[in-house]
Amino acid sequence: MLRLRFNYRSSSAYESPAFYGELQTIERLQLKAIEIITDPQFGMSVDALKHAVNSHDIKACWLMSKYQNPLGASMPEVNKLAILDVLAAKHIPLLEDDVYSELYFSEYKPKPIKAYDQQGLVLHCSSFSKCLAPGFRVGWVVAGRYAKQIEKLQFMTTLSAAVPNQLAIAEFVLHGNYDTHLRRLRRQLESRQQQMRHAIEQYFPLETTITRPSGGYFLWVVLSDHINTGELLQTLLDDHNISIAPGTLFASDQQYKNCMRINSSYLLTDKIRQALITLARCFA
Ligand SMILES: Cc1ncc(COP(=O)(O)O)c(C=O)c1O
Repeated sequence: MLRLRFNYRSSSAYESPAFYGELQTIERLQLKAIEIITDPQFGMSVDALKHAVNSHDIKACWLMSKYQNPLGASMPEVNKLAILDVLAAKHIPLLEDDVYSELYFSEYKPKPIKAYDQQGLVLHCSSFSKCLAPGFRVGWVVAGRYAKQIEKLQFMTTLSAAVPNQLAIAEFVLHGNYDTHLRRLRRQLESRQQQMRHAIEQYFPLETTITRPSGGYFLWVVLSDHINTGELLQTLLDDHNISIAPGTLFASDQQYKNCMRINSSYLLTDKIRQALITLARCFA
């Protein structure tokens, strides 16, 4: 979609902090990136987006309305509507990345912004990578008024996604107890998130704050101001064989130095617990 809308140096609005894949795409296409401040609980700021669209010629906006990577933020329904209103007033398309949509901990699945889209301005993207088959690379986009153009662009670039992979997933979704699998996965992720949060609260310095996402599998950890997780990265790897995702990975300009993202989807084994204790010692 970005390739459809943009010329060299066109402006695009995106979250800060954001998924590094998004930052890489923006860099590769040499777009002018307008960072929109994003709240760890409520997602992209409506006011900041409003200000940005009024002061720049923004050609598209890219965000995650639920279980945002890296914050885990999810927008309240009023914010989803408000974001859509701001963009629709200027006919700006929204690329809604909803790859974690199936991984909700609530009783009902929260709606994407796409559910409120009357004008076909939202391109809703998702995939089976996070909930079923990471290596299969099968995903989709519900592209509204851009559907034909997207179809053409995909045909020109990759022809199509691998057919055997699509058939295998279709077979599983139809006959493989997909819903049971998802229910089990959600329960497991919720319980692992709880355990990971408790362990971080137990070991990390008192001033540490941790998000409490209502789905997905990322925790955003904010440490004391003097900590620089990016600087610790190499030492942790060399001396302790611990790999972390430092905050600076999720923005340009060395922002979020005292932050890190933790993936809570893994079982809290003794090895991971020990790694947390080692990290805590480095952050003290
Ligand atoms: C926010 C976000 N969007 C997109 C992707 C890519 O998904 P896929 O593996 O289906 O290409 C990822 C994968 O890490 C992600 O975290």
